[in-house]
Amino acid sequence: MTIHIGAKPGEIAETVLLPGDPYRAKWAAETFLKDIKLVNEVRGMLGFTGTWNGHPVTIHGSGMGMPSLSIYVNELIRDFGAKTLIRIGSCGGMQTKVNIRDVILAMTASSLSTPSRGIFKELNFAPCADWSLLRAAAEAAETKGISCHVGGIYSSDVFYDERPDLNEQMIRHGILGVEMEAAELYNLAARYGVRALAVLTVSDHLITHEALPSADRERSFGDMVEIALHAAFS
Ligand code: ADE
Repeated sequence: MTIHIGAKPGEIAETVLLPGDPYRAKWAAETFLKDIKLVNEVRGMLGFTGTWNGHPVTIHGSGMGMPSLSIYVNELIRDFGAKTLIRIGSCGGMQTKVNIRDVILAMTASSLSTPSRGIFKELNFAPCADWSLLRAAAEAAETKGISCHVGGIYSSDVFYDERPDLNEQMIRHGILGVEMEAAELYNLAARYGVRALAVLTVSDHLITHEALPSADRERSFGDMVEIALHAAFS
């Protein structure tokens, strides 16, 4: 047990999928895994361990934003031995070629600050995805016929952004989408020598101002879970 994760030793799998929303973790575990067990419910942050095609998998909420994700991912890696961590979540589209419902595989994650800022100070560290996961996820998306983009994303500290100038610069520099967690996930994976990837569905768009209808969100989320599971075990 750790401060934020009530699982017993051995109850967390080496492969962990990380949706922001704990109820999404519950839905994904019930939908895609066999023999599931609730392994964490501290502060309502649900985590389940089960199997997928015989492989042990944990699906655990990360909460919203890098400070929240950082707590869970630090403990999952350092105390429970997680080795492959895949964020599955939503993002705002930042390029006209990126459409609502498309999947973005985050090759890199820029950020203004992260909980790791204290380490890097003036250095602009470049957090990036694990290549083997990225390649396998792109292949899985292609096999499933899902429209998929691979490139840089931006991990923001705020959802309600008062700095449109910064978003404009991100768009100008080809950033595909904005979310709030991936940069710290990639920093921690680099620090502890484990594999990480963020698989993101475009749920809203900063240029067209479209939004994914709620009826479509479950299907898109299911596609991401399947891409992540195939990538983890290919
Ligand atoms: N997650 C989904 N859409 C987002 C947006 N527009 N900004 C930040 N995080 C997001």
